Amino acid sequence: MLFRSWAQVTDPAWPDVARVPDHVGGTHLLVTRHALVRQVLADPVTYRPDNALDAVTPMPATALRVLAGHRFRLPPTLANNSGANHPQIRAIVADALHPARVAAQQPWLTTLVRDRVAQIGATLAAGTPVDLYADLAADLPLLVLARLVELPDAPVDAVKEFARAALELFWAPLDPDRQVALAAEVGRFHRVLRDFAATGGGLAAELRAAGHAPDVVVGALFFLLVAGQETTSQFLTLLLHRLAGEPTVRAGLRTGEVAVADVVEEGLRLEPPIVTWRRVAATDTTLGGTAVPAGSSLVLWLGRAGRDPAVVESPDEFRPGQRGSRRHLAFGAGAHRCVGDVLARMEAAVVVAEAAPLLDGVTVVRPPWCPDNLTFRMPDAFVIAPARASSTEGARS
Ligand code: HEM
Repeated sequence: MLFRSWAQVTDPAWPDVARVPDHVGGTHLLVTRHALVRQVLADPVTYRPDNALDAVTPMPATALRVLAGHRFRLPPTLANNSGANHPQIRAIVADALHPARVAAQQPWLTTLVRDRVAQIGATLAAGTPVDLYADLAADLPLLVLARLVELPDAPVDAVKEFARAALELFWAPLDPDRQVALAAEVGRFHRVLRDFAATGGGLAAELRAAGHAPDVVVGALFFLLVAGQETTSQFLTLLLHRLAGEPTVRAGLRTGEVAVADVVEEGLRLEPPIVTWRRVAATDTTLGGTAVPAGSSLVLWLGRAGRDPAVVESPDEFRPGQRGSRRHLAFGAGAHRCVGDVLARMEAAVVVAEAAPLLDGVTVVRPPWCPDNLTFRMPDAFVIAPARASSTEGARS
């Protein structure tokens, strides 16, 4: 069964391509090896991205009516777009996220994170637990994104709620009542985006000027608001939790023997926020000796590809800089490879550099809990508290 099997990421028994049922009677081909995942991602003609945003739990008429009431539409724009307009839309988004523009945000972000870390340190020193998801990681990526891309003037909480609702509506196993509630949340915000897409400046204006239809502008903003911030706050939370259990790595960071950038790559390899990504076979083909009929849904297990012993020396150990560490597929590959990778890496590097010392001398009160979801890990909290006064062991989870 899909979903909870993500926890079996280290189980050697998985075949290279496994036929796996889902919760509604469908079947998917789960691709578990690095080389095969890469092969699929690199061939957008045989394996199209069209199903990337399809709801894994088909929506009942009641939920579809709610979405239609908000005039919700999601035409192919970025991740699910195999059409001729993809390169142009992607290029406009990539310009907004150009490495030089990203680098220019680093000093601002460092100051913000440093201030927060100082406050969190003071709270811990007073003996009070802290949720590093809520108090540090949750809103940072959205705040940075808003400095790079003109976004609708909406409260941070409203954007976060909408984005998490979208990840649940499209990628989680759900019952119809929940689908209706999520459709209402997603539809409401879609309306905000539609108004903004018609008049907003920056990226929206550039897409309009390039002749893209209003639905396309909305679709691109929709995807960017979900992919461009929720994924990164998930990653920051998962990486900090992982580091809490890696005292030797933290010691290396302190002395400078371990590079921050290497920690971020090893984090992406072992704790990717996006564990799978989908493609659909355009023609009858074979993959790793397995027949793939046209129309098959392929679930590419990115999380497991990062632990493939054919690629990385010590697949399950967090060893920054080890051979193969950077060959993970956390950002996908090929024509649809993540355009926000430089931004995500910059944010993670700032957080690791500034916040890792917080994890010394604390105990993990509440590790992140991740709900059932085909693709996104969506940790809900990560609470730490000062370890008992005499403890010098560092974090324990
Ligand atoms: C740790 C954080 C992130 C991870 C793990 C991640 C991962 C991914 C993955 C797996 C894909 C699909 C790639 C494929 O189909 O080959 C993707 C696509 C994409 N990501 Fe990210 N992403 C992250 C952060 C971001 C950020 C910060 C942004 C922008 C602000 C962003 C924007 C996009 C866009 C626009 C696409 C679609 C690209 C296209 O289809 O041309 N992502 N990302």
